[in-house]
Amino acid sequence: MLSLTAGCAVFGWVVNGPAHNIATGSVVQSQSSIRMQTALSQDELKKMAGYKAVDDYVRSGMVIGLGTGSTAAFAVERVGELLKSGELTDIVAIPTSVRTKEQAEELGIPLTTLGTPESRFSKLDVAIDGADAVDPQLNLIKGGGGALFREKIVEECAEKFIVIVDDSKMCDGLGPTFALPVEIAPFCWEHTMRAISELPSLAGGKPQLRLGSSANNAVDGDDPAVTDNGLYIVDVFFTEPIADAPKAAAELKATCGVFEHGLFCGMTTSVIIAGSDGISEQKA
Ligand code: 5RP
Repeated sequence: MLSLTAGCAVFGWVVNGPAHNIATGSVVQSQSSIRMQTALSQDELKKMAGYKAVDDYVRSGMVIGLGTGSTAAFAVERVGELLKSGELTDIVAIPTSVRTKEQAEELGIPLTTLGTPESRFSKLDVAIDGADAVDPQLNLIKGGGGALFREKIVEECAEKFIVIVDDSKMCDGLGPTFALPVEIAPFCWEHTMRAISELPSLAGGKPQLRLGSSANNAVDGDDPAVTDNGLYIVDVFFTEPIADAPKAAAELKATCGVFEHGLFCGMTTSVIIAGSDGISEQKA
């Protein structure tokens, strides 16, 4: 099985030998002993993280959770590639969104859902997914892509939850770098949004109903964004870090009208971080 080398030169000229471009699979011939690295695009970094997570953590015979988003899509791609080549066999996967389900189906990845005999009654070996923000305790904000509920229910069932990010997602405190998504019932949504704004642990947060596509938090439409679950999303914007993320998670969970929130606290097994210097990993 292919494996990516942590901290390797990922693109460019390498001392006395060819450099393997992980992002494209091409080989770049060395012409001198000068190391001249070229900056990788964010997509190339995401691909490195996604491929490494699959290479390091997925083995034949496993039940796996497939995340959602542009980074997770590379992990799904890698699973499909290794199944096709025969390097992986007997994989059963649970997708965390309609988008991921469609991608996995196209790649011929066998799918199931939680609670089935095929999922070993929800005993997943590993789940791999991206994140919008990762704090020093490896708590996460997720749901930028609108799949927070399906991601959480699947990832909670995994023995290992591997988070894959480019280094732009690492932060000192959750909140200011990415608005916190909260999935709410459409019924009386204005009331629920107001209730969220009054939660003590979210003081200073400014909730805003997501409009347009549920797959991102840009205002790209006039109508409320609707999730795979038929619900709305409120994005809570912060200028200061959320002081106590687990407490905020508990308060949100106890709010009538809130279906799920994008705080993933104490769930991460390991974070694979791709940066221009290579790949690093932080374990919980
Ligand atoms: C979707 C998510 C994604 O994992 C998160 O938004 C990161 O996405 P990307 O890899 O595209 O930056 O939580 O609900």
